[in-house]
Amino acid sequence: MSKLVIRGGNRLHGDVLIQGSKNSALGILVAAALADGESVLENIPRHSDIITMCHILRELGVGVWIDQKGRFHVDGRGLSRDKPSHGLVRKIRASFYVAGLLLARLGTAEVPLPGGCAIGSRPVDYHLRGFEQLGAKVSIEHGFMRAETKGLVGCKLYVNRASVGTTINLILAASLAEGTTIIENAAKEPEVVDLSIYLNTMGAKIRGAGTEVIKIQGVPKLEPAQYGIIADRVEAGTFMIATAAAGGEVTLHSIVPEHLRAPISKLEEAGVQVEAGDSELTVRAAGRLKPVDVETGVYPGFPTDLQQPFVSMLATADGTSVVRETVFSDRFRFVDELVRMGANIKVEQDTAIIRGVPRLTGAPVEMTDLRAGAAMVVAALGAVGESQISAAEMLDRGYEQLHIKQREHGADLEREDDLPESELELSESLSPIEVRG
Ligand code: EPU
Repeated sequence: MSKLVIRGGNRLHGDVLIQGSKNSALGILVAAALADGESVLENIPRHSDIITMCHILRELGVGVWIDQKGRFHVDGRGLSRDKPSHGLVRKIRASFYVAGLLLARLGTAEVPLPGGCAIGSRPVDYHLRGFEQLGAKVSIEHGFMRAETKGLVGCKLYVNRASVGTTINLILAASLAEGTTIIENAAKEPEVVDLSIYLNTMGAKIRGAGTEVIKIQGVPKLEPAQYGIIADRVEAGTFMIATAAAGGEVTLHSIVPEHLRAPISKLEEAGVQVEAGDSELTVRAAGRLKPVDVETGVYPGFPTDLQQPFVSMLATADGTSVVRETVFSDRFRFVDELVRMGANIKVEQDTAIIRGVPRLTGAPVEMTDLRAGAAMVVAALGAVGESQISAAEMLDRGYEQLHIKQREHGADLEREDDLPESELELSESLSPIEVRG
């Protein structure tokens, strides 16, 4: 177990380099294994979720290693096993992408139903229906999805609800299918677009990514390719919100401001100054913010992954804000922790009513999931006094060294781990992938 000790009240300042996108990297690592050769991937963050995905790929026979420049090499030549272990798959939701990979490459897949953050019911029924429509025989037995096909065949698919994971999994499966697949009501998120651009670099024929209709003309073979993934819009948004809550001036670098239109507009409405360039963005905030109403939604709507830190920020706004969560059914569990810090928030079903208080006070609190962890950090940075946030290892799933980055920018915080650093390196969630070169 890890703990973050944060003494709030310091303003944030300086320049922050934003890392590569976790959710883009998870799909692209799997996509690389569609080719019979070695791809080189740049800007992959070293989160524990990414390392877990690398271990899952290795279990299937895929070669994965990191070179001295931090680039990930993925070699799909050895892909031969169709059954990843339950222990690894249950840790991350995106592990289910290997089902699309295995069906496309081997024609069989036996994949445990995935786990992930506890943010509400997260079924995979759309994925399964899509595989069936592409010609796979699918069943659920003993907690596993078993699927087999003599060869996937392209078809027209309508997904009930725009789903990022389903769109990614079906693109992976359809890229090597016979004929053309059309995905209607596809997710438009930048991570879907990034995956499609990478696959096209490998020789896939995907059109329409970023719109509601994606057309995939299957090809017999994909070639390995070198690719650099997009910046993490959630890490960028989290830094913007943290600066707004704590006050100060921070410039983010290597980002795509266009991916952050909804959060930028809501921050401006709250009284935060935002100045965006081509690939950088400066946030300035001072004094108490104005209340704003927010509803999460699919891209380009307000991202659910920033809802929790945004609620923390609004906890001290000068008035009442209403935040509605439309993507995941249980993403307000962290509110109880904010209330321990003095927040006045009532949750009714999918809506949080936040009556802004003049200040939060530091308290012992816990991270209930990854983005709730970011929310606790935002709250503690702006609070008076010391907060001790337990289960801080949760942050490693999606932020690289967040505590060090925040400290470099003025925050007064430390991380305490049960294990010394050397042993942590070897602990399961952070066990290193071989570094060569
Ligand atoms: N859904 C179904 N059936 C399915 C698939 C989805 O009912 O088969 C529902 C979900 O329960 C949810 C909605 O559809 O209510 C949308 O879920 P989606 O499939 O879009 O989400 P996801 O692919 O599971 C990804 C990100 C999440 C992010 C969401 C929404 C990854 C690995 N995860 O999840 O990221 O919140 O899209 O943008 O890409 C995070 O990074 O902390 C995180 C949770």
